Amino acid sequence: MDTTTPVQQPEVQPMPRIGDAAPAFKAVTTQGEINFPEQYQGSWVILFSHPADFTPVCTSEFMTFASREQQFAAANCKLVGLSVDGLYSHIAWLRTIKEKIEYKGMKNVEVKFPLIEDITMEVAKKYGMIQPGESNTKAVRAVFFIDPKGVIRTIIYYPLSLGRNFDELYRVLVALQTADAYSVAMPADWQPGDDVIVPTAGSCGVAKERMDGKEAMQCHDWFFCTKPLPKSEVEKVISKK
Ligand code: BEZ
Repeated sequence: MDTTTPVQQPEVQPMPRIGDAAPAFKAVTTQGEINFPEQYQGSWVILFSHPADFTPVCTSEFMTFASREQQFAAANCKLVGLSVDGLYSHIAWLRTIKEKIEYKGMKNVEVKFPLIEDITMEVAKKYGMIQPGESNTKAVRAVFFIDPKGVIRTIIYYPLSLGRNFDELYRVLVALQTADAYSVAMPADWQPGDDVIVPTAGSCGVAKERMDGKEAMQCHDWFFCTKPLPKSEVEKVISKK
């Protein structure tokens, strides 16, 4: 064995994690060039990838996301898509969607948010969207929620064969904004209007008051207290730009 020649290690890029600054890049999109995440400072952004243009699951997802773009925009959130296809493929696919596809009551759907071309896979690799156990040549269905300061706050991955649940994506966005605004956490299956979790009491006295019911909250034990947060309060948060 030759012990003098260094062994070539495959290039491994670290996967971005929750709490990291969103990796920066410039890219060509169907809406012109973008400088990410810099030009999105001040608004939330969902950066998501899909495996390939002209495929059925992706088409159903794009029609759904485009149909709900206004709902996300009203919550101060912009959408940016990506696949490792080229710009002309993207343009042709989006035109086909608009001109030909009718699905679940959606038709003439125009995708107005940018769709990144990433033939070199540079951006997809930076964001850990190429997951070789699933595919070496296509991005998985990744979803990055990035806050107005450019910090990654939630990451969700789906495999090639499973379309995303857009109610859940919207719920995550609303939950993140509400948690930030009220310094609370959201319990399992939380929906706007449900009770929220208050931070654990820092002192025995506070904990006892909670257990005695002196604060407007319900304590299941000293470490698990919830309080009401009306839907109207949540709506105030998400409609604030
Ligand atoms: C689809 O979007 O239908 C799809 C894309 C890549 C692999 C499998 C399914």
